[in-house]
Amino acid sequence: MSGSATTSRALEPKRASESATEMVQVVLPNDANPLGFILGGTVMHLIDMAGAIACHRHSRSLLVTAAVDDLQFLHPIKVGDLIILKARVTCVFTTSLEVQVDVFSEETLTGRRMLTSRAFLTFVAVDRTGGRVPIPPLIVETEDERRVCQEAQARRAERLKKKGAR
Ligand SMILES: CC(C)(COP(=O)(O)OP(=O)(O)OC[C@H]1O[C@@H](n2cnc3c(N)ncnc32)[C@H](O)[C@@H]1OP(=O)(O)O)[C@@H](O)C(=O)NCCC(=O)NCCS
Repeated sequence: MSGSATTSRALEPKRASESATEMVQVVLPNDANPLGFILGGTVMHLIDMAGAIACHRHSRSLLVTAAVDDLQFLHPIKVGDLIILKARVTCVFTTSLEVQVDVFSEETLTGRRMLTSRAFLTFVAVDRTGGRVPIPPLIVETEDERRVCQEAQARRAERLKKKGAR
């Protein structure tokens, strides 16, 4: 098989549903602060993991995290609750892509769910020598997907503006 055939097949467009990722785990005492709430750093780690998995599934490439947009913790997640992370690719650029990760708490006994964080991360596809790698395009079909991708483009412009200002 020639290199170009491999590359063109690898760059076949994909739907967001093909890489959408859900991670669920129980919050254990080891993950918690003295109040019995999950540590912010642990949530950030899980957000990075869920986002990376969705982006790996889309790109099938090595990746580095380039940016995490500002993050808020809206409600605590208690020991014994479930933490649920849902990641979906929102927009693909050339060698970078954006992923949205929504974090929920779920009470195990009642099933009550709350959105506790929403994060937007940018990953860059790289090879083992540090070179950039093109990413397969995202198939954008529905009105909602189009809106989400337009919003991602606006966020990207803001990010690059901030980066340039440093
Ligand atoms: C992220 C990194 C690869 C960007 O390198 P760079 O030389 O500044 O960026 P490039 O000019 O090569 O741009 C590559 C792509 O990344 C995008 N990009 C770069 N910095 C970005 C940022 N801060 N936010 C969003 N996108 C960014 C560019 O827009 C470009 O996207 P495109 O090809 O889709 O248009 C580099 O800064 C790096 O390696 N950072 C450390 C990453 C890391 O260690 N992460 C944590 C562990 S994985």
